[in-house]
Amino acid sequence: MFVRGEGVYMFDADGKRYLDLVAGIAVTSLGHADSGVMNAMQEIMATGLIHTSNLYRTAPGEALAQWLVQHSFASSVFFCNSGAEANEGAFKFARRWAGATGSPSKHEIIALRGAFHGRMPGTLAATDRPAYRLPFRPLMGGVRIVERDLQELRAVLDPETAAAVIVEPIQGEGGVRVVDPEFLRGLRALTKERNVMLILDEIQCGLGRTGSFFAYEQLGFEPDMLTIAKPLAGGLPMGAILVNDTIARAMQPGDHGTTFGGGPLLAHVAHHVVQRLSDPVLLAHVQEMGAWFGEQLQALSDRTGRIRAIRGKGLMWGVDVHEPAAPIIQRAFDKGLLLVGAGEHTLRFLPPLVITKAELAEGLELLEAALVG
Ligand SMILES: Cc1ncc(COP(=O)(O)O)c(C=O)c1O
Repeated sequence: MFVRGEGVYMFDADGKRYLDLVAGIAVTSLGHADSGVMNAMQEIMATGLIHTSNLYRTAPGEALAQWLVQHSFASSVFFCNSGAEANEGAFKFARRWAGATGSPSKHEIIALRGAFHGRMPGTLAATDRPAYRLPFRPLMGGVRIVERDLQELRAVLDPETAAAVIVEPIQGEGGVRVVDPEFLRGLRALTKERNVMLILDEIQCGLGRTGSFFAYEQLGFEPDMLTIAKPLAGGLPMGAILVNDTIARAMQPGDHGTTFGGGPLLAHVAHHVVQRLSDPVLLAHVQEMGAWFGEQLQALSDRTGRIRAIRGKGLMWGVDVHEPAAPIIQRAFDKGLLLVGAGEHTLRFLPPLVITKAELAEGLELLEAALVG
């Protein structure tokens, strides 16, 4: 049970310190008790305006939406409360657009093998994890999971039935798998050719985590929709759907809504967070720390023989181990190191993006001790 946070550390009720390489599952990217995030919260508290509902505009909501539009491909933004809600919304937007194209059966959402898009009815249907899916069948219809293979996608993407493809540029829960950029560029071309929307889910890999503000900036193309959440509001629950002009024009007032989405408290804090996470100095730090951490993981693998594979980019890494991951995560916890799994044999590293080399080195030392027992 945790009672306090500071920088890259959390403290339990007995005062024991834990190095946090989970960051609330890729949420607290600026670390705990960040003074800028704390100040932003206090500034907005002082206005007394925490919530208005999305019936009205607010200055923080407008400022955040404008910032996101100016710094991306998007022409409009819809604010919501979580990653799953952002993806559910994107599915609705795709269907709204598809319904207006004149193809009456155009509705299908296609996700890829290994995907994780959330645990609500639509997003669970697009999530390739039998254990998460099976107890809740039947899942939402009109959602299909296919192989990460352009041949197969060519066969599946019928312009008369397919509305959208959703893909994580780096699959997080699926084991930190960097999806081949060549495949993604091929998928972008194919979706354009077949008049199908391409949704990028950057909920885990976006907002600086892989060394660019949006992961798609490293891919050389733009999606039609992009979903973000996790670190967006510095630990407060917030998601967003960024959409291009075609989608924005298909949506009419009243088509979608959510009571809490983009309230002034969240939006003001998020406006601060996005400016910090897009700072070129921070992004260069993520690239540098990520490259170093990857090398150190390789050295650890050579030294211990306990690691089967290493995958990742920036400050998002997955390490496959021969034995089950859960006991290693428990041993690490006992030694004061917080890690999370991604599947039965994968350890996942999602440290705060502000972590220093000395702090990462401390984590590697604790990891080695946990690996060898
Ligand atoms: C890629 C991706 N999409 C969607 C989600 C769902 O986000 P949330 O847990 O906020 O609903 C997650 C959560 O881990 C995720 O990693």
